[in-house]
Amino acid sequence: MDIYRSWKMFSKIVKERNADQIVLVTSFPLREKLHGEIEKIRKMVPSDLEIVLIPDGEKAKEWKSLGRILTQFTMLYLTRKSLVIALGGGSVSDVVGLACSIYKRGMAHINVPTTLLAQVDASIGGKTAINFLGHKNQLGTFHQPIAIFAIAKFLRKLNREQFIDGLAEIIKAGFIKDYEIFDILVKQKISELRKKPVVLERLIQKAIAVKEHFVKQDFKDNGIRQALNFGHTLGHALELKYSLSHGMAVLYGIFLELQVAEKLGFVSTTKMIILKEMFDLLGINFNCHKFKIDRKSILHDKKSFGDKISFPVIDMLGEIKILKISIKELIAALEKCN
Ligand SMILES: NC(=O)c1ccc[n+]([C@@H]2O[C@H](COP(=O)([O-])OP(=O)(O)OC[C@H]3O[C@@H](n4cnc5c(N)ncnc54)[C@H](O)[C@@H]3O)[C@@H](O)[C@H]2O)c1
Ligand SMILES: [Zn+2]
Repeated sequence: MDIYRSWKMFSKIVKERNADQIVLVTSFPLREKLHGEIEKIRKMVPSDLEIVLIPDGEKAKEWKSLGRILTQFTMLYLTRKSLVIALGGGSVSDVVGLACSIYKRGMAHINVPTTLLAQVDASIGGKTAINFLGHKNQLGTFHQPIAIFAIAKFLRKLNREQFIDGLAEIIKAGFIKDYEIFDILVKQKISELRKKPVVLERLIQKAIAVKEHFVKQDFKDNGIRQALNFGHTLGHALELKYSLSHGMAVLYGIFLELQVAEKLGFVSTTKMIILKEMFDLLGINFNCHKFKIDRKSILHDKKSFGDKISFPVIDMLGEIKILKISIKELIAALEKCN
């Protein structure tokens, strides 16, 4: 599965698939916002392009929305030889990937990620999901897209918050593998990063490389891939409860997990200084006392087993260890957070 940074190969890949029908799934607002790009895709595919619309943001990842997609697929008489294009942020690629993996036991799809977060993270690696009963990514599968078209032009329309969301995963990539990311970030004013396509491109390439490094070694997420979950165990527990965007939840999650790691005996002063520097650059004022983590949401984490959980901690910068700790120990460390 390849990641392309331009449309050059799109027609060829779609044509080679020889699909009996081609369907594009996107959200209602993105249909309007990205009208020009959708028309461009229409011209690049060899047959008619049906469009299926779903709710926006996390609402796309509700059971009802999955049902809506599968209903539309059925009503359009899609077969295992059909091709689906998922156009949107991580919420779209997550739910469309899931729908494609279960419809007739598997149908091909292409991801066209349109947010920074989806381009560096969510669209890559084949994890699909919806949320369920208040828990993040409770239902999901592993199902790779046949290709990913991460086109930089989409990023021009993102607002500041959406941009910071993507930077959160880039910062995570810095902590778990490639600390050069911080060198690049500290030299840049975040507000100006969007006007510097060459620098942004470098950051995107680096974050994609980090994601691919872990996915290649452990596709099914049984070991080292869990490094990519750094900041997510506690981040996910906050995300739905406090209606935070995924990226902000991850940044707060990194803060809390660094604190926990320190209580567990991992020296994290340097890492905390780097993170605080990142918060300053992004204008984030984080007070951990405003948030309470529920024990239950940690129990529902996919990395928990019995009363234990796999918890990624950074030993040296760029060196990750996956600890198995008891949830009780984790909560106790968290309560001492300052
Ligand atoms: N599967 C994975 O490996 C993985 C990894 C990381 C995150 N995720 C998931 O991804 C989701 C977050 O993804 P996201 O941050 O892309 O959010 P999102 O998909 O919810 O999109 C956020 C907002 O951006 C808008 N948007 C999208 N593209 C735009 C564009 N080009 N211009 C202007 N607005 C645009 C959307 O309409 C939406 O309102 C979460 O549900 C998270 O769990 C999955
Ligand atoms: Zn994430």
